[in-house]
Amino acid sequence: MKRGLLVALEGLDGCGKSTQLVGLGEALRAEGLAPLLTREPTDGAHGRRIRAMARSGQQAPVADELRWFVEDRAEHVAQSIAPALAEGRLVITDRYFLSTVAYQGARGLDWRELLSQSEARFPAPDLALYLEVPVELGLARVRARGGVAEPAFERADYLEEVAEIFRAIERPYFQRVDASRSQREVHAELWQQLAVLRAAVT
Ligand code: TYD
Repeated sequence: MKRGLLVALEGLDGCGKSTQLVGLGEALRAEGLAPLLTREPTDGAHGRRIRAMARSGQQAPVADELRWFVEDRAEHVAQSIAPALAEGRLVITDRYFLSTVAYQGARGLDWRELLSQSEARFPAPDLALYLEVPVELGLARVRARGGVAEPAFERADYLEEVAEIFRAIERPYFQRVDASRSQREVHAELWQQLAVLRAAVT
């Protein structure tokens, strides 16, 4: 059966994932591909609730937080990701289950357990690119863009724990990219990483 390919961009807040997603989309379309570019939290009901919670600064119990991210993902996979993969398309998502592994793991859940549960329930990415930046650089970028602060997630001490989990993950599909370089350099490396996958999709 024909199947597309799933790529996840992962990283700390301010690592540049969202900008890179746009750049990759443009470059892929210029090559005649029709990738699905998407993100989590989604713009659906669960995703909107998560963003409202994050902005409020009121941290929900981690079990609730986990449930919301997983419900959001279940809907995202069923409604968008799986159908696009079934059509043979390349799907690139800005965050996927490794965000749950690292962020909810950093709230005290067993991240290895979160990883195996995620792999059992959701399609594993063919490639997960971790855009690695020092916590302070990411936070400085978030502040510089004047975005709405998300006090529930964007604290240095917490993000250090998140980064530590990202550093510990070992999976054949998981690749680290130094994202403290210029946007152009990071784009070039991501493009190279996608080269093999690009050849296999429509
Ligand atoms: P983010 O990518 O910053 O979304 P946006 O910039 O569109 O608001 O994601 C919001 C926050 O949610 C981010 O700090 C990471 C966190 N998050 C988790 O804790 N677990 C998850 O599973 C996901 C997908 C995100």
